[in-house]
Amino acid sequence: MNLEKIIDKKNTDLSKKIDKQKVPEHVAIIMDGNGRWATKKGLARSFGHNKGVNVLKEILKASKNLGCKVLTVYAFSTENWTRPTKEVDFLINLFSEVLEKQIDEIHQESIRIKFIGDLTPFPATLKKLIQNAESLTKNNNTFLLNVCANYGGRQEIVKVAKEIASKSLSGEIKPSEVNEELFNSKLLTSGIKDPELLIRTSGEKRISNFLLWQLAYSEIYISEVLWPDFNEVEFLKAIIDYQSRNRRFGGIESLPNKSFKDSKYSS
Ligand code: IPE
Ligand code: IPE
Ligand code: MG
Repeated sequence: MNLEKIIDKKNTDLSKKIDKQKVPEHVAIIMDGNGRWATKKGLARSFGHNKGVNVLKEILKASKNLGCKVLTVYAFSTENWTRPTKEVDFLINLFSEVLEKQIDEIHQESIRIKFIGDLTPFPATLKKLIQNAESLTKNNNTFLLNVCANYGGRQEIVKVAKEIASKSLSGEIKPSEVNEELFNSKLLTSGIKDPELLIRTSGEKRISNFLLWQLAYSEIYISEVLWPDFNEVEFLKAIIDYQSRNRRFGGIESLPNKSFKDSKYSS
C-alpha cells in the first residue's frame, strides 16, 4: 500500500469514531513549532513557516469537510514583533504571497476570510490584499476562516474597555449597563460563538495571549506534533479527544451541546 492509501485508510478509520452530532462548530488553533521543525532539519526557520502554510490548507479542508463552521488560527501575535527583523519581514511577505495565490481557491470553496488584529503596522500592500480578500469573500457563508494577525488578547480587551469608557463618558451608556453581552459585542470576534476547542501544537502548554476572553470555557487539546508535521489524522485525533470530554460549565451535569452562557452570540 502506498503512503497516500495508508493515510486515507487511517482517516477513514478515525472518521468512523467521530460523532457527527458533536462536531465543534468553532475550532481555534495556535499553530506552533515551525521554527523548531526547521532547525531540527538543519534548515532556516523560514522553511518551517512555508511548510506550515500547506498544513493550514489541509486543516482548513479537513475541518470544513467534518462540518465545523469556523476556524480561527493564530498567525502572528502582538509579541512576535520582538523576533529578528528578517523573520518578521519573511512572515509579512508570506502573508501577502499566500493571500495572492490562495484567495481564488478560498472563494471558490465558499469560505469567508477575516483578519483579526490591529492591521495598522502592516505594509500598505498587505493591507490592500487583506481588504480585497475580505470584501471578495464577505458573502460566503459556508465556512469562516479567521486569521489572527498582530493579535493580542490583552490588547483586544483594552480596546473594548476604551470604547466602553468613552461611550460612558459621553453619556451614551451608563456604567451600570456594562455587562458581558455589551463587552462581547465589541470584541474583534463579535457575532461569532466562542471556540468549543482550542488546539495548540508543539507540546507547549500555554495560551500566549490568544483569545483570552473567548477561551473562557473552551476545551484545550495539546498536540506534541510540531505544526509543519500536523495533518488531518492529528486533527481528527483532537476532535475525538474533544468528544470524550465532559463539558460541565461549572455545573454538575455534562452539557456537550451547550455553549458558554449560551449567549445570543452562540448559535
Ligand atoms: C509558529 O511557529 C509560527 C509563528 C509564531 C509565526 P514558531 O515560529 O513559534 O516556531 P517555534 O515555536 O519557534 O518552533
Ligand atoms: C504563539 O506562538 C503565536 C503564534 C502561533 C502566532 P509563539 O511561539 O509566539 O508563543 P510563545 O513565545 O512560545 O509563547
Ligand atoms: Mg513558537
